Amino acid sequence: MRILSGIQPSGALHLGNYFGMMRPAIELQEEGEAFYFIADYHSMTSLFDAGQRRRNTLDVALDFLACGLDPKRAVFWKQSDVPEVTELSWLLTTVTPMGLLEKCHSYKDKIAHGIAPSHGLFAYPVLMAADILIFDSNVVPVGRDQKQHVEVTRDIAIKFNEAYGLTFILPEPRIREEVAVVPGLDGQKMSKSYGNTIEIFGDEKATRKKIMGILMDSRTPQEPKPDAEKNLAVQLLKLVAPAEVGKDFEDRLRAGGLGYGDLKKALFEHYWTTFAPARARRAELATNLDYVHQVLREGASRAQTVAVKVLERAKAAAGLK
Ligand code: TRP
Repeated sequence: MRILSGIQPSGALHLGNYFGMMRPAIELQEEGEAFYFIADYHSMTSLFDAGQRRRNTLDVALDFLACGLDPKRAVFWKQSDVPEVTELSWLLTTVTPMGLLEKCHSYKDKIAHGIAPSHGLFAYPVLMAADILIFDSNVVPVGRDQKQHVEVTRDIAIKFNEAYGLTFILPEPRIREEVAVVPGLDGQKMSKSYGNTIEIFGDEKATRKKIMGILMDSRTPQEPKPDAEKNLAVQLLKLVAPAEVGKDFEDRLRAGGLGYGDLKKALFEHYWTTFAPARARRAELATNLDYVHQVLREGASRAQTVAVKVLERAKAAAGLK
C-alpha cells in the first residue's frame, strides 16, 4: 500500500497541521510505503516572497523530521525536485471539467479571504491530482478541508481512464474524524490565514500569552458548565494531553469549581511538555542542516524513479509516445 501526502510551506506549522495531517501521516509510516512531500509549487498560489518560501520549506522539513517522520521508512522530498508532476498536471487539465474546479470550497474560501484568484489557484486541485496519481497512491491522509480535493482527484483519474484506458489507480482519502478539525484560538478552524494558530514549536512566552488570552465567557468558576465539552480550551487540551487528563478537566469544568485561568494554564503546560522531545530533536536538526538537505535529495531521487515510470505510462496511453 502506498500512502501519500503533501504539506504547503506556508509558515510555521501549527497544531491544526499537526493533528490534522502530520501525526496521522507519521503513524501511517508503519502501515505501508509512505511518500510525503513539501508542496512548494502549491505555495506559489498564495506566497510571492522567494526568500520566505525558501525559509518556510526548510522549516517544514525540520518540523516534520522533528515530529517523527523517519527517512528510513518514509520517502520525503520537496515537490519541485520532481518536476514530472507539472507535466502530468497538463495532461490531467485536458480531461478536467471546469465545473469540477468551480465547485471547490477551498478555492472559493481562499478568494473570500483575499487571495488573488489566479489561474494557478484555480488549477491547484489539478496539480494536487498529479501529485497523487503520479505515485500510484492508494491512501491519502489529509485534514477534512482537503477531502474534496482527493475526490476531485478520483474524478480526474476516472475521466483520464475513460478517455485513454486504465492508467491511474483511484486513491482513498484517509481522515481521522475525531481530530479532522482543530479549533483555533478564536473557535474557527485553526488556519494560518485566520491568524488563530498555536505553532507546534512556538516561543514559550508568546505561546503562553496566546493561550492565556483565549476568550472565555463571563460565568464564575463556581458555576457548573453543562456545555463543558464545547469549551475551546477543553477541546485543545484533549488533543495535547493524555485522554484521561482531558476528560478530568472537562468533568471538573462541568461540575463547577474550575476557573478558566487554571484550565488555560493546564492547556499551556500540557502543550509545552507534549512537544518537549520533538522540540529537542528540532534544535539538534537545526545544527545539522546538511543532513536535512541530504534527506530531501535522497527522497527526491527515490520519488522521481516512480514518477518517471507513471508519467511514461500516461504519455503512452495518451498517444504522446
Ligand atoms: N493541498 C494540500 C494542503 O494545502 C497540500 C497538498 C498538495 C497535498 N498536494 C497534495 C496533500 C497531495 C495531499 C496530497 O494541505
